[in-house]
This record gives sequence, structure tokens and C-alpha cells, in this order.
Amino acid sequence: MLNRPIRVGVIGCGAQGNNHLRTIKELGAEAAVVSACCDLDPERLQNTKDMWPQARATDDVNEMLGPAELDLVIVATMPNTHMQMVLAALEAGADVLCEKPFMRNIEEATAVLDTAERLGRQVQLATNMRYMGTSQYLHNLVESGAVGDPVFAKVWGCHVNPPWWAPNYYLSSSAGGVLASTLVHALDLAIWVSGSPNPVSVSASMRRLFPGKRGPIASPEIRERFNTEDLLTGLVRFDNGVTCVLEGNWCDDRPPPHCFEMVTTKGKLNSDPFIVTVDEGGKVVDKTPELSESSGWGESIRNQDADVIRHLREGRPWSMQDRRQLLNLQKVIDGCYESARTEREVVF
Ligand SMILES: NC(=O)c1ccc[n+]([C@@H]2O[C@H](COP(=O)([O-])OP(=O)(O)OC[C@H]3O[C@@H](n4cnc5c(N)ncnc54)[C@H](O)[C@@H]3O)[C@@H](O)[C@H]2O)c1
Repeated sequence: MLNRPIRVGVIGCGAQGNNHLRTIKELGAEAAVVSACCDLDPERLQNTKDMWPQARATDDVNEMLGPAELDLVIVATMPNTHMQMVLAALEAGADVLCEKPFMRNIEEATAVLDTAERLGRQVQLATNMRYMGTSQYLHNLVESGAVGDPVFAKVWGCHVNPPWWAPNYYLSSSAGGVLASTLVHALDLAIWVSGSPNPVSVSASMRRLFPGKRGPIASPEIRERFNTEDLLTGLVRFDNGVTCVLEGNWCDDRPPPHCFEMVTTKGKLNSDPFIVTVDEGGKVVDKTPELSESSGWGESIRNQDADVIRHLREGRPWSMQDRRQLLNLQKVIDGCYESARTEREVVF
């Protein structure tokens, strides 16, 4: 057990960077401290300094990583810079928690994971939904075999409006629209709960309904530059026989925003609202348990950050994901975009 707090560096102190900065404060100074932060925006940097006065603050990532003293670097910039930031942090000797979507494509993802392996360092993708109490329950339930084998999943990620809070709808910064930015959460979760199978093929289509939908309430700057998809539908087949239907939609008012339903050979699972039913003697029986663990969004980020920090303090390797899972998720995302562009099924 390390007898000092984990030294954390945060790159990107915007909307999500701030969630991490606040979360680490809540975990307590004996667990972790933010020792360095980096952002191009002076106001955001100053706000971070106000929260973490002892942190070195800079707009230059190389300067931030220069002293090579950080145990953990959290990358919370937009996806166009994820590869550059993760590689720099690994080379500086840190382990890295990288925000979703992981990389812009499988080539970048492979390069990052190869570098981590070569340097003996770790990279985890911030798929925080895996840390919800309901997600953990469903994952363990399927793994136990109590509901039989997963067969079919319906997965969606929908917002009433495009997420205006960051440039998620400019391809130059986002590496994709509703799929890469929103649907990725529930997609990763559904694949994980269904046993992390390998994708076999993908067929998808995408549209941009903006500005016809929601355009009138967007600022002129957004209207001018919005160039990602805001509707994506798809079908993914996996090598364990599971098929997965996808809907990503930024112009829908159907709550909850991130969800999946899964049919298994003995029951049905719903992530939100959380429902578990099992077929017993020809009858559908409600087996939804009362969970003590919270399944809120903020809690899941807190659990995630606490977990990676706890592992580092205890000198244990991170165990939430492995290389194959990360590459498979990237493969499905790349495959969806390729299939939508070419209007053909992509077979892996
Ligand atoms: N897991 C979640 O719940 C969740 C929620 C929101 C966003 N995200 C992810 O977090 C990431 C950031 O999203 P956001 O909403 O915080 O975006 P944001 O635009 O609010 O923040 C990004 C920050 O990075 C800074 N930045 C950009 N280039 C930089 C550089 N070269 N050096 C230093 N700083 C730089 C920007 O100035 C900005 O402050 C994205 O990958 C997004 O998908 C995750």
C-alpha cells in the first residue's frame, strides 16, 4: 500500500474535466491530490487553480508532464487530441484514464495500447456506466448463468437536444456525433453485460436532422458548423450469437438518455428503469432486487475514479477492461461509421 496520496494530472478542465476535479476532492486528500492541470482556456485554468491551489497550472501539456511526477493522468480534452495526450502521459510515466470516445479510429487505439504495453503502463477508458450499481448487478447476473444466455439487446443513447455544453457536433473536435459521444456509453455497457463477445458484423445508417430539428434554438455559430450525425441506427452481430440494435438520437425526448434492454434465454433485463424478469414455469416473474449501491451518473464517475485510484494505491492492476474489449468497442464504432458511409454491411 502506497503511504502517500496518488498524484493526479488533469488535461482538459472543461465540463467533464471539472467532474473529475470535483470528484477527486470528494475522495479526500489522503487518497489523491490534483498536482497539475492543463487547459488552453485561461479562465478554466484559473477556476481549476481556485479549486486546487497547490496544482501546477499550464496551457502546455509538455510542461505539465515535464517533471514526470504524476501517477495518474486524466485526459478530458475532446477526442481529436486524445491520442496525443494519452501517448504523452504514458511516455511521462503515468497511467491514464481517458474520457470516451477512446480514439478516433482503431489505428489510434492500437498505437496507444501498444505504447502502454511497451512502457508497462495502463490505460482505462472512462466508461463510467460500468460502475453503476445496476450495471454491476446485471453483469454479474448474466455471468452467473441465472438468466440463461443473452440473445438480443436494444441499446439507445438519446438526448432531447444535441449536447450543447461542448463541441460534440463538430467533426474536427469530436471524431463523431451521437454514436461516438452519447450512444458509446450504453453500447459499451450492453456489450460488457452480454459477456464481452467479439463483433462479427455491423450494418448502420446515419443522418443529420439538424438544423431542421432543434436548429432554431441553436446559436448561429453552432448552426454554421454542426457537421456530425445526430441520428444513428444500426445492427451489430456478435460471435456469441447476440444481436444488438442501436439507436443514437440527439433530437428525441424519450428518457432515459442511456439505456439497454436485453432478452436472454430465460428472462429479460432492463438497465433503466432497472427491471429483471425471469421466465419460471411459463410465467414472467419480476426478480428486480432492491440495490443499496447508487446508480446515479455522478456516483458512477465517483466510483470509477475511486476504483482506479484505489488500485494504484494498493499496487494492483486495473481490472475493469482489457485490450480486447477496448479494441472491440472501437471496431464497432468504426464499423458503424464505415457502414453508414458506404451503405454496406461491414464484416470483420
Ligand atoms: N463520461 C462522461 O460522463 C462525459 C461527459 C461529458 C464529456 N465527456 C467526454 O469528456 C471529453 C471532454 O468533453 P467536455 O464536455 O469536458 O468538453 P469541453 O470542451 O467542455 O472541455 C474540453 C477542454 O479541453 C481543453 N483543451 C482542448 N485542447 C487542449 C489542449 N491541446 N491542451 C489543453 N487543453 C485543451 C479545452 O480548452 C476545454 O476546456 C470528451 O471526450 C467527452 O466525450 C464524458
